[in-house]
Amino acid sequence: MSAEIGPDERALAAPSRPALEALAAARDAPRPLVDLTALTCERMLAPATPRLARIYRQQIERDRWPDFAAFDHARYPLDLRRDAACHWARRAVAEYGSVHQFSALTRALAEARIGLELLGPLARLLTDELRHAELCARMALVIDPEGPTASPREFAWPAPLAPWPDAPSGDHDAILTWAAGVILIACCLGETLSRPLYDALIVVCTDPVAEAVLRQIQRDEHLHAAFGWDALATLWPALAPAGRAALQERLRLALGGFEATTACGRTIDMIAGSELEITRGEAPNLGTLEAHHYAVIFFSTVERELFPALRAIGLDPAAAWAARPLARRTISEEPGPTQTAS
Ligand SMILES: [Fe+2]
Ligand SMILES: [Fe+2]
Repeated sequence: MSAEIGPDERALAAPSRPALEALAAARDAPRPLVDLTALTCERMLAPATPRLARIYRQQIERDRWPDFAAFDHARYPLDLRRDAACHWARRAVAEYGSVHQFSALTRALAEARIGLELLGPLARLLTDELRHAELCARMALVIDPEGPTASPREFAWPAPLAPWPDAPSGDHDAILTWAAGVILIACCLGETLSRPLYDALIVVCTDPVAEAVLRQIQRDEHLHAAFGWDALATLWPALAPAGRAALQERLRLALGGFEATTACGRTIDMIAGSELEITRGEAPNLGTLEAHHYAVIFFSTVERELFPALRAIGLDPAAAWAARPLARRTISEEPGPTQTAS
């Protein structure tokens, strides 16, 4: 889609012609300009006005958009498509949840009058997560156009709910501690864990359209994790001792939370000795991992990447890990709702 600014955008501040026409139509038969009735994630793709679409697409179409029309349904049995579409639909909801979380973080850092170089990257993160939500929702619907009807629970789009309380207001130290905690969990832990998951998904995926989508998301998650570690390193020296202790406690809880949602009920002992290298199988794969892959990636990323980086910040990951709340040992075949951003 063109990134040109059309005459509509240069017009005086007023609704564009299509918006006025929609308003006029709504006067006769009252309805909102966008479809707000669907409870499933195709609602993310509801059209607004051509002007809003152009403004939005200028932000998100930085890479060549995957050719969704090239997806070949005939290559895959319906069961496989339906199962993969559910994964993609849940990813879309998680990605939209990241928009919700990063916008709250942006607001809190702005209230704390954080410098532009730390605040500004969040604009990029926000548009990335919007892109990811659209990519995943489109992929889900392309793979299984009947998904929202056939699997309404798997395609459900509940209101986003952050896994932490709302940001405090007024108290500068309290806001900084809250913001550092969100960065620790959403960016440092969440994005660092999601990066190798996307690396693995690219390895196992056998479909060119799904692979193009995975590659676009993977590239951004590298940057999101990098933002998190530098943002936390920047905020950490400004935290009071009580704030640092609060972050250590959040780390303890978050490690248990991520283990519960990402390791699919597996323990380190259960995966000990299993093959660490993830390879492409013979069977077609539309961008899904097996449960034990999630567990292997979780435990190896915690050990190899998270522990050293957390120690470099000044946190004590070994103490947090030893005292983490123990995950429910319910073996599942796929991760539960992700604790946080992706
Ligand atoms: Fe994302
Ligand atoms: Fe992300």
